[in-house]
Amino acid sequence: MRSGGMGGKRKIRVGVILGGRSGEHEVSLVSAQSVMNAMDKTKYEVIPIAITKEGRWIAGGDPVAALKGLPAEDTHHTALLGDPTQRGLVPQDAMEAVERAAPVELDVVFPVLHGPYGEDGTVQGLLELADIPYVGAGVLGSALGMDKAAMKDVFKAHGLPIVRYRVYKRLELDRNQKQVEDEIERELGYPCFVKPANLGSSVGVSKVHDRAELGPALLLAASYDRKIVVEQGINAREIECSVLGNDEPEASVLGEIIPCNEFYDYNAKYIDGRSELVIPAPLPDDLAQRIRQLAIQAFLAVDCAGMARVDFLLDRDTLDVYVNEVNTIPGFTAISMYPKLWEASGLPYPALIDRLIELALERHEEKRRTRTSYTPKAKE
Ligand SMILES: Nc1ncnc2c1ncn2[C@@H]1O[C@H](COP(=O)(O)OP(=O)(O)O)[C@@H](O)[C@H]1O
Ligand SMILES: [Mg+2]
Repeated sequence: MRSGGMGGKRKIRVGVILGGRSGEHEVSLVSAQSVMNAMDKTKYEVIPIAITKEGRWIAGGDPVAALKGLPAEDTHHTALLGDPTQRGLVPQDAMEAVERAAPVELDVVFPVLHGPYGEDGTVQGLLELADIPYVGAGVLGSALGMDKAAMKDVFKAHGLPIVRYRVYKRLELDRNQKQVEDEIERELGYPCFVKPANLGSSVGVSKVHDRAELGPALLLAASYDRKIVVEQGINAREIECSVLGNDEPEASVLGEIIPCNEFYDYNAKYIDGRSELVIPAPLPDDLAQRIRQLAIQAFLAVDCAGMARVDFLLDRDTLDVYVNEVNTIPGFTAISMYPKLWEASGLPYPALIDRLIELALERHEEKRRTRTSYTPKAKE
């Protein structure tokens, strides 16, 4: 059953997935709340789908309240099956399952999940299996955007400028940490940045100033991932660009982050509230133009779709530009960089959401052109 919209045109039913199993669960809640608030309710029927930190899916009633442990009537345990014959949310509680046997169909899903188990291609893979259109990058783009080591390999293959880096497995640290440290010192020097390959929000990221700090930084990163990325530290301005589109994406005006700490760590991002976003970034036109071009190239290189925020390091001394990373589900509160940059480029927040949903539907439609069966030619 569908609710009729204005003028008899039925509303588009949008599943907004929020929360999730990653360390960025809380950030996701804030982003998703903004997205849901801004969605035009005459056009969209919003179905919030909350994922607990344990990975349990909750829908119905007020699942966000349920997620926060508040009383929430009518919520129920649900699941999305990777099965296109049941393309919706299938109730899981025994009673609910009897009462609401029919899956809740979804026209499109907006995953507002940051970090692993949401931004990394896993949820995207499930949505592919279920054949439901969704906002943002597909499986490959999401996975590449999440893995800083693989992302750099792809950037390099596309001739994009990146900082000098090395990648180590946790096992190599276990076996011979001294040799790893010697190599970092010799090849990259100080300061360097040590990061878990798959995470975000600067969790597990350290700026290392000397050998004494190196060991603890490596072990910290290794506690978050089996792959560790170490990079040459740049005395950098941090410039960001929002990209929007599918095969012919567009770049927004640029923004600059002025972190309130020595670098843009978790505190500077979410706790202190004293970091500044400067829009547009004060840069000469030709340099800004070049960075916007690089943003589009980086987006295409990792096979993004819909949206991505591309982050750059601009060396203060040499003015060299480096692509730092692509974020396939960037922070999405009304005051986050991604939507702010589009607003400054003439696309207000609600229109941005409309466009993202359109792009998700377009991409799904485009994929239907792909043949899924093959009939070998009969032998002459
Ligand atoms: N190579 C580098 N040189 C200088 N600063 C860096 C470098 N790498 C990271 N940083 C700083 O650390 C922050 C977090 O690193 P980043 O790679 O963006 O991880 P995350 O995915 O967690 O945002 C950056 O915003 C920047 O402030
Ligand atoms: Mg970053």
